[in-house]
Amino acid sequence: MQIIEKKMIEVTNNIFCARVIANNVRSDFFYNKPVDTSYNSYLVKGKKNALIGVVHNDCCKEFFSILEDTIPVSDIDYLVMNCTGTEYSDSINEILNRNPNIQVVGTIPAIKNLKEITNVKFNEHITKNGDVLDLGGKTIEFMVAPCLPWQDTMITYVSEDKAVFSGRLFSSNYVSEDIFDTDYDGYKTALEDYYKHIFLPYGGFVKKALNLIKSKNTEFIITSNGAVIKNNIIQKINDYLKLAKTNDTAEVAVFCPKHYKNTLKIANVIADTLKKCHINVCIYDVCNISENTINAMNSAKAVIFGTPTINKNAAKEIWHLLSELDAVNAKNKPYFVFGSYGWSGEGTELVHRYLLQLRLKPFAKPVSTVFTPSETDINDISEYTRRFAESIENNWKEN
Ligand SMILES: Cc1cc2nc3c(=O)[nH]c(=O)nc-3n(C[C@H](O)[C@H](O)[C@H](O)COP(=O)(O)O)c2cc1C
Repeated sequence: MQIIEKKMIEVTNNIFCARVIANNVRSDFFYNKPVDTSYNSYLVKGKKNALIGVVHNDCCKEFFSILEDTIPVSDIDYLVMNCTGTEYSDSINEILNRNPNIQVVGTIPAIKNLKEITNVKFNEHITKNGDVLDLGGKTIEFMVAPCLPWQDTMITYVSEDKAVFSGRLFSSNYVSEDIFDTDYDGYKTALEDYYKHIFLPYGGFVKKALNLIKSKNTEFIITSNGAVIKNNIIQKINDYLKLAKTNDTAEVAVFCPKHYKNTLKIANVIADTLKKCHINVCIYDVCNISENTINAMNSAKAVIFGTPTINKNAAKEIWHLLSELDAVNAKNKPYFVFGSYGWSGEGTELVHRYLLQLRLKPFAKPVSTVFTPSETDINDISEYTRRFAESIENNWKEN
């Protein structure tokens, strides 16, 4: 990480952003793809003072230098933690060093996590939904909004300024001169990318949080990374809501590395049978895994995985794909596994057990052929698939 800029900016009347801009950040959900981003922590000044959020430990020095130019940490009464992801909490220890009397404010799970993250004793102030903290001239209301993306998250609202502090929601790796969302196109691309990396499995929770924000008279949405939103707020909330809606893909998605010819033959039999049962199905080649393939796996109503056995294991392409499985939302999703093997056949069973452990819903034991699928194998696989089609259709009728 290289620090590019540090600045204290007044967002609105007595709400300041201590903003550190950093390049080449590899952290959190962006380990594989270094990003440029800004870490934002906010000082809310009333008769008492609150700091909302802290920054990454690697830019701690810069953060404290701009913060203490404005206020000594010993004069801050509350540290409000909307989210506790380690990236957003690992500089708390330094705050506690400088001000051991500060009250740390968070939900029950947030306080529990922070105890384990900091490993020091601190003054805890647990908040419940609807609680209010009166700073004198500034009133902070707490709205519990879990799974954004950790289970301990909340959103805070300062009524005097109609300002929602949304934590990682609406955040982006977007860096510009202006802290506000003035370059809308640039900001939108960054916002969508951030959403895909972090919130995709949590669409239901995002929708609930957006409804909480909609229930407030809002002029600012103030984020932990990237821009502060102040233009066309309602439009921006509605755009964000669209991100939270799931994609339309095939009802049943079949995944198979297409260069494995015997396994591919089985995949074709399965897809043909499902089509005859009037089920919308698509085969995805997992030799090159695209975003489209991952989306299909995570949004299909049922999933089918094909693998040969190679050296007592499943094909590595299938494991690669499965590393992208959205385990948060896959519970009870119907599945089965198929493949061809030569003598021991562990591949299909290993994938089957993996999916079982992630609590997907197995249709039956895997279906396999020894080497080339014979006429009898093909008939058996068709029959197996027909029964699978029946079972998922019954399941869909029930739900
Ligand atoms: C490098 C290699 C390793 C293999 N290892 C196993 C194995 O450990 N156990 C097994 O049952 N079959 C093994 N096989 C046999 C394949 O699973 C078998 O040829 C199968 O029909 C391949 O199907 P495909 O055409 O879909 O790749 C191996 C094949 C190759 C080429």
